[in-house]
Amino acid sequence: MRVLAIESSCDETGIAIYDSELGLLSHALYSQIEMHAIYGGVVPELASRDHIRKSIPLIKQVLAEANCTSDDLDGIAYTSGPGLAGALLVGACLARSLAWSWDIPALGIHHMEGHMLAPLLENPAPEFPFVALLVSGGHTQLVEVSGIGQYQLLGESIDDAAGEAFDKTAKMMDLPYPGGPHIARLGANGNPDRFVFPRPMTDRPGLDFSFSGLKTSARNTILKCQEDGGLSDQDKADIAFSFERAVVETLAIKCKRALLQTGHKRLVIAGGVSANKTLRKKLHELMDKVRGQVFYPRPEFCTDNGAMIAYAGCQRLLAGQKDGEEIIIHPRWPMDQLPAVENHKESNNG
Ligand code: KG4
Ligand code: ZN
Repeated sequence: MRVLAIESSCDETGIAIYDSELGLLSHALYSQIEMHAIYGGVVPELASRDHIRKSIPLIKQVLAEANCTSDDLDGIAYTSGPGLAGALLVGACLARSLAWSWDIPALGIHHMEGHMLAPLLENPAPEFPFVALLVSGGHTQLVEVSGIGQYQLLGESIDDAAGEAFDKTAKMMDLPYPGGPHIARLGANGNPDRFVFPRPMTDRPGLDFSFSGLKTSARNTILKCQEDGGLSDQDKADIAFSFERAVVETLAIKCKRALLQTGHKRLVIAGGVSANKTLRKKLHELMDKVRGQVFYPRPEFCTDNGAMIAYAGCQRLLAGQKDGEEIIIHPRWPMDQLPAVENHKESNNG
C-alpha cells in the first residue's frame, strides 16, 4: 500500500509518501517559523493561509521525488487533530478533495500518534509494548503502548507542556521562537553551579507533570539579573543550562517511574523536545542502568513532519480504516479514543 500524507496542524507543512513494502519514498517540509518569528509565536490565521500556499507545490514535489503519480497511490492520510482548527481544515479539505477525485480512501490521523510512531520509521524500530514519552510544544504525556491504537495514558502535564515551557522561558530572555533549540545551544556554555531550579512534582508519587512553577522560577531569576545591572549573555547561558537540566531531570525521573510501574524495558521519546541532546543522553544513561533501550526518531522527524503521518496512516488504512464523506477535524482529541489496529505487520525500513 502506498500512502500520501499531509501534516498541517501548526506551523509546518509536511508532505510524505510511505509504501508498506518499500518504506518511506519521499518527504518534504516547509517551515513557517520565519514568518511567525516576528510575532514571537504562531499566528493561526497566517498559518492557515501559508498551508494553502505550500501544500500543492510540495505534493507535486514528493510525487516527483518518489517517481510516482496519483495512479500509484492507494490512500491519503492527513492530520485531523489536535492542532489549530484553521490549519487542520486546510489539510483535511485538501486530503479529502484529492481522495475523492482520485477515488481512493482518506483517513484523519492523530498528530500525537504520528509523533509516537515516528521511531518505527527508524532501524532498529522499537517492538511493542513500550512506554512513550511525548514531549512537544503542546503536549507532555507518558503513554503505555501495547500496539497501534492501544494506548493507556499514564500521566500528563497539568499546565504547560515541556516545549511550551522552553519557548516561554526563551521568550523572557528575548531569544527567537521556537525557543527550545536556542536554550539548548546557549546552555552548552552555562555555568552548572550558579542556579538551581526545582524538579516539579518529583517529590510526590504519580506520573503527572507541571512546568509552570519552573517557568516562574526562571522568570524570577531573569528579573533578579535585570535588576542587578541587566541580563548579560553569561546570565542567559547560566539560566539556560539550569533550566534545561531541570526539565530533563524531571522528565527522566518520571520515565523511570513509568518503566517501574509497567515493567517495560523499552522507552520511546518523540515530539519536538525529543530532539534535545541532553535529554537523549540522560535517557540513554537511565536505560543502560535498567538494561533497557531508548528509541527516538532522527532529528528531522522529532519535530512536525509528514513522514510520521504517512506511516501511521498506512498502518490504519492497511487495517481497512477510512473516513466517511464529512470533513471532520478534532482540535482537541484524547489519544485513548483511537481505534486499535490488530495484527500490525512490521514495516520495512530498509
Ligand atoms: O512536535 P513539535 O514540532 O510541535 C508540536 O507538535 O508542538 O514540537 C515543537 C517544540 C517547541 O516547543 C520547540 O521549542 C521544542 O519542540 N524543541 C526543543 C528542541 N527542538 C525543538 N526543545 C528543546 N530542545 C530542542 N533541541
Ligand atoms: Zn507536533
